[in-house]
Amino acid sequence: MLDKIDALYEKFKTDINSVSKQADVLNLKSEVIGKKGSLSEILKSLKDATPEERKAIGPKSNQVKSEIEKLTQKKLQEIELIEINEKLAKNKIDFSLRNSMLERGLVAGGEHPVHQIQREVEDIFTSMGFDVLDGPHIEDDWHNFGALNIPETHPARDMQDTFWFKDMKHLLRTHTSTIQVRGMESRKPPFKFVGPGKVFRCERTDTTHEMCFHQLEGMMVGKDITVGNLIYFMKTLLKEIFKKDMEVRLRPGFFPFVEPGFELDIRWKKPGPGESKHSGWLELLPCGMVHPNVLRAGGIDPDEYNGFAFGLGLDRLVMVRYAIEDIRHLHSGDLRFNKQFAKF
Ligand code: PHE
Repeated sequence: MLDKIDALYEKFKTDINSVSKQADVLNLKSEVIGKKGSLSEILKSLKDATPEERKAIGPKSNQVKSEIEKLTQKKLQEIELIEINEKLAKNKIDFSLRNSMLERGLVAGGEHPVHQIQREVEDIFTSMGFDVLDGPHIEDDWHNFGALNIPETHPARDMQDTFWFKDMKHLLRTHTSTIQVRGMESRKPPFKFVGPGKVFRCERTDTTHEMCFHQLEGMMVGKDITVGNLIYFMKTLLKEIFKKDMEVRLRPGFFPFVEPGFELDIRWKKPGPGESKHSGWLELLPCGMVHPNVLRAGGIDPDEYNGFAFGLGLDRLVMVRYAIEDIRHLHSGDLRFNKQFAKF
């Protein structure tokens, strides 16, 4: 019996060299060590074997089985490699095209730094279980103001100079907090999401102000959410973005849609020697606990649920990270500026 097993193994070794398809290899293997394979057949007659033979046969057949497994794996890998090489040879990639483009002064495009950072922040939040929501640029009064506890007569409306449409009913959203409202409309608590996008304000531009910039809104609603939760998520975000633990402080801040409201500052030193206006505490993240009126407007019972919200300035984040002193560079469309951020 032992000889039979040896013979079977030797035959397998020769046979496997003569096949070149994945399926043939697998068939060969199961012909020998499959349930109805030749090895199983031999083992069926174990009862007729002498006691010595029986002792030896167990280890022997196990050893042959594992050798066959190994040979099969090796052969499959070889076949895969051959297939990959054949494919590569067929679909040749012509790198000379890119080189000749570069020689002729044509450059491949890259992602804008604001968009890069937006995707990074989205990734960080999705890894913590947040959804990513979108909302329209053109909004109505209710989504931009009313539902956010900013009634028509409220002085807070002056805080944001707004681009109104002629009908005085529609506007270009002044903040991504509109996405909070749309998020509450479309889901039931508990939930957590972020909503990035462009926002518009009718402002005189200077080094830190633009008419169009980017925010990323965040909202978490559930039971017994605390300021501690808010700080945890904000610190995790900052740690991921700046690749180190950041020192933060909370100051009281007023926004009609949060109570209490905060300004979250980070301790920041502009890279390079000396102090500058970028050094010290830097206002980065307005946030707070969602006002009960806002929850109510979104169809959520504030006695049962509460939550936090924040609005991250993405352009500001890019400026801090790369020590850019004028926000207007970001929208200038100047390729000399943009090219510095291309990843290839
Ligand atoms: N929407 C506010 C703004 O644009 C920022 C903010 C968002 C503040 C969420 C608190 C909570 O100024």
